[in-house]
Amino acid sequence: MAFTVAIDGPAAAGKGTISRAVAERFGFAHLDTGALYRAVGVKGGDPVAAARELTVADLARGDLRSLEAGQAASRVAVIPEVRAALLQFQHDFARRAGGAVLDGRDIGTVICPGAEVKLFVTARAEIRARRRWLELGGEAAESDYETVLGEVRLRDERDMNRADAPLRPAADAVVIDTSDLGIGAASERAIAAVMAVRERR
Ligand code: DC
Repeated sequence: MAFTVAIDGPAAAGKGTISRAVAERFGFAHLDTGALYRAVGVKGGDPVAAARELTVADLARGDLRSLEAGQAASRVAVIPEVRAALLQFQHDFARRAGGAVLDGRDIGTVICPGAEVKLFVTARAEIRARRRWLELGGEAAESDYETVLGEVRLRDERDMNRADAPLRPAADAVVIDTSDLGIGAASERAIAAVMAVRERR
């Protein structure tokens, strides 16, 4: 039976970790939809053609998690034809038998408005930037904290203000603010939200 969990939110809010925890707990498949846009962004050339021709190998590239790939993803993500080219794959993934967790920016609002569970995972920009900076190596990272904070704010601005599928919580999303919450506690909240819906069915 299909069962979709849509998890949206800004960069570095904890969506990935929470999505993996939910998928593991319920035995659902997980799709990090940001990786689709990152792969299109780093491929170069015409982004619409890149989106239409995206392959599994493109998603396995080792450089998808860099700051540059994040910015490139956010830039190609404003192009409606790029978003349209990635739609069918996400729809099919969401309705696969056995359940699916998709995380991104527009899953609960545009890709899967009928998702059984919608979560919006967020945190203050300074906290998200600090996490991303630590992930990149902290003091040993190539970029300093202020640069990472600037990148996070720029990406928020672009993702929230684009015309097509901007980042915003669905009206019926459960909001989880991870600013002052450990990732374990945040994952538990997400799991409880899924459990509550499954028990009602
Ligand atoms: O989640 P992420 O940081 O990997 O996403 C990278 C960029 O891709 C993000 O800044 C905007 C874009 N994106 C999107 O527009 N829609 C999605 N569902 C997922 C990501």
